[in-house]
Amino acid sequence: MKIYIEDSYDKISEKAALIVAGRITVNPRSVLGLATGSTPIGMYKKLIDMYKRSIIDFSQITTFNLDEYYKLSRENRGSYYYYMMETFFNHINIPKENIHIPNGMADDIEKECREYEEKIDKAGGIDIQILGIGTNGHIGFNEPAENLNIRTGLIDLTENTIRDNSRFFEKKEEMPTKALSMGIVSIMKAKKIILLASGENKAEAIKNMTNGYINTNHPASILQAHRDCILIIDRDAAKLII
Ligand code: F6R
Repeated sequence: MKIYIEDSYDKISEKAALIVAGRITVNPRSVLGLATGSTPIGMYKKLIDMYKRSIIDFSQITTFNLDEYYKLSRENRGSYYYYMMETFFNHINIPKENIHIPNGMADDIEKECREYEEKIDKAGGIDIQILGIGTNGHIGFNEPAENLNIRTGLIDLTENTIRDNSRFFEKKEEMPTKALSMGIVSIMKAKKIILLASGENKAEAIKNMTNGYINTNHPASILQAHRDCILIIDRDAAKLII
């Protein structure tokens, strides 16, 4: 695992955007795995800017998002569908049919998860997977637990995550307690992984994911076994490893 420690959130965003843009330039038909949350917002802004300056083109790009809340409609401002449209997709030229986000409203959730995996495989797998990290070490919504899902599935969110993410909802009660998430192996199959982290509240999670052990209570620690995983973090997030 390569670790880049940057001076600011802006620098993290820039580095990540440059790597993604480089990949898109080399292969305009790249498959991107995308994350939501506050951390990748800066990277999305930089990519939009590069698109507007005609440096990159998304017309042949395919995307798969990591996760979506269970039983939250696309129109809900807290949904990851809404987030992705507002933050990124509405500002670039990606065809809508190339965008994939798990459907948390599906009647048959098992089928939805199975088909999601099949679509990733059919697209040829993910070339670059963008990840954030939860304060509890989750990636996607793979929460600390004795057993982790290999494949995309329905996850019970922990109290920690519900507390952290309720900031995205007007009322805490609106925050769903379950989500669909790509599984650990679905993530690990990506050819390249970029994990972004900013802020002191991520320092403990970064320490636990880089300590030389794989522990299902720190799901991100599995990334130490990935062939091409890059950590791009700021000094605050790196505080306990430097
Ligand atoms: C989001 C996701 C989560 C977040 C993580 C960090 O799609 O899968 O794992 O990356 O919860 O969220 P932020 O960036 O808001 O701190």
